[in-house]
Amino acid sequence: MRVILLGPQGAGKGTQAQQLAEQTGAKHVSTGDLVRAEIKEGTELGRKIQEYNDRGELVPDEIIVEMARPHLEGDGWLLDGFPRNEAQARTLDEGLSEMGQRLDGVVALEAPDDELVERLSGRRTSQSTGRIYHVEHDPPPENGPDEGPFIQREDDAEEAIRNRLDIYHEQTEPLKEYYDEQGLLVTVDATRSIPEVTEEVLRALGHAAGAGDQKGES
Ligand code: AP5
Repeated sequence: MRVILLGPQGAGKGTQAQQLAEQTGAKHVSTGDLVRAEIKEGTELGRKIQEYNDRGELVPDEIIVEMARPHLEGDGWLLDGFPRNEAQARTLDEGLSEMGQRLDGVVALEAPDDELVERLSGRRTSQSTGRIYHVEHDPPPENGPDEGPFIQREDDAEEAIRNRLDIYHEQTEPLKEYYDEQGLLVTVDATRSIPEVTEEVLRALGHAAGAGDQKGES
């Protein structure tokens, strides 16, 4: 399975990618996670990209492409947060063609902006595992495995959220047409519950829902 998850901030790309990775065995590749890991390392590159991240702006294409490329080798992946503009999409097409790989599908998760702002304001992420939660819709476990503390992302402040959504509508949303023209796009209503959205994505991609025993196949 080589699939791109497309959608505005808060639509649930990361949430669905973690569910789908568990159910299909495909690897979750999030460029946002790669960016945050580099920032946490405190490298020179990390310091350079932190300002873009915290303001909710896109990191320059050449840096993101360089970070993502090594993660695209291998059998199956769910790409979350990449590509985000046409230049990145074309670079991905060229890279896959050089590697002799092809895309199986592009899933566009759709939800209205007001709901996205509410979701992002309530998002909490496990500092140890990176698992995504929501204070109301998917609360962090109180007595589960030790995943705490649960943190709020720097770019989940309202101003940065609105900035990210503007950039999404301007630069990333046109990719729906780009992939539709290639016959790869499926759209999914992301306003439903997390398990319902997962089921719909698996159905749209032609995978049986709850196919945990397919782990490793991709
Ligand atoms: P990134 O980490 O990718 O952030 P993003 O695009 O802003 O996306 P989000 O993580 O905010 O949204 P999501 O759709 O994954 O939502 P989630 O599943 O968490 O990127 C961060 C930064 O890195 C960028 O701003 C940029 O600077 C840089 N970057 C990354 N890729 C780049 C690229 N290609 N080019 C340039 N720069 C790049 O869900 C959100 C919340 O909603 C959670 O709390 C969740 O529990 C809840 N939720 C999810 N689904 C549901 C549901 N169905 N019902 C109720 N609640 C739900």
